[in-house]
Amino acid sequence: MENSLEYTVSAVHDYWNARTLGLQYVTDESLQVGSPAFFGHIRPWMNPYKFPWIMERIEREAAILKGKHLLEVGCGMGYDSLELLKRDVRVTATDLTSNAVELTRRHFAIEGVQAEEVRTANVLDLPFEDHSFDAVWANGVLHATGDTARAVKETRRVLKPGGRAIISHFYRKPSWMYVLHRWGRENIEHKEEDPPVNEFLTEEEILGMFEGFEIVEAVREHYRALPVRRSGLKAALYTYGFKPLYNMIPESIAKGLAYKYSVTAVAV
Ligand SMILES: C[S@@+](CC[C@H](N)C(=O)[O-])C[C@H]1O[C@@H](n2cnc3c(N)ncnc32)[C@H](O)[C@@H]1O
Repeated sequence: MENSLEYTVSAVHDYWNARTLGLQYVTDESLQVGSPAFFGHIRPWMNPYKFPWIMERIEREAAILKGKHLLEVGCGMGYDSLELLKRDVRVTATDLTSNAVELTRRHFAIEGVQAEEVRTANVLDLPFEDHSFDAVWANGVLHATGDTARAVKETRRVLKPGGRAIISHFYRKPSWMYVLHRWGRENIEHKEEDPPVNEFLTEEEILGMFEGFEIVEAVREHYRALPVRRSGLKAALYTYGFKPLYNMIPESIAKGLAYKYSVTAVAV
């Protein structure tokens, strides 16, 4: 990997290893990280439960992939993989960071589900043979790696022909969040600093990366400003100023400013 990308991956690793997604939602500091109560406490704020379209996607894909082998990249604490495992999909769950892997292992053990494997892996350089998986699932990951296009290419490489790439939550521009990021160095979703990389891309740029795929679905999501579990001045400005005003915009216009873009595609 070329030096500057290696440097970025190392910064991305250090950021996420200290801040596995979910830790920022803890409001009861007495909870032991990785305990059953801990996973229950943050659960309502995690993707499949917070965003109804993610749970719908899990249901839809699980019906297609029952008994098949899916790779999740950037699994965080493993909430998406957990729901896929509960629906009889065979899952290999991976993340760049060892803390995420450790939390995912504990999470699965608490829930009594068995993955094929839970291990560290860099989506920019996956430690798997070509054509290994029936599906690759990523949720809120590829835009945060430092090289989104390379991540999509690696996804294509490890998929069997006919395999499904289910990539949720590319960061889209133009979008309301892009404006907040550019104008305010907005930091409403994370407790401290922003992650080192958040690549915002146009829909054309995103779709252009899917060489060797047939697009099954490409949808705009998160076009309303939703609640965030944060305190502080920026969060207050967002919650009491920006959010109610923005959400008055008619839906047809708001959809054009959607924050996220998700693509499901089949390897050809
Ligand atoms: C926003 S979090 C999403 C976590 C999880 N998918 C979820 O929705 O809860 C981004 C995750 O991507 C992981 N990540 C970032 N760069 C990665 C890379 N190059 N390879 C694999 N995982 C990566 C981070 O460690 C982090 O766990």
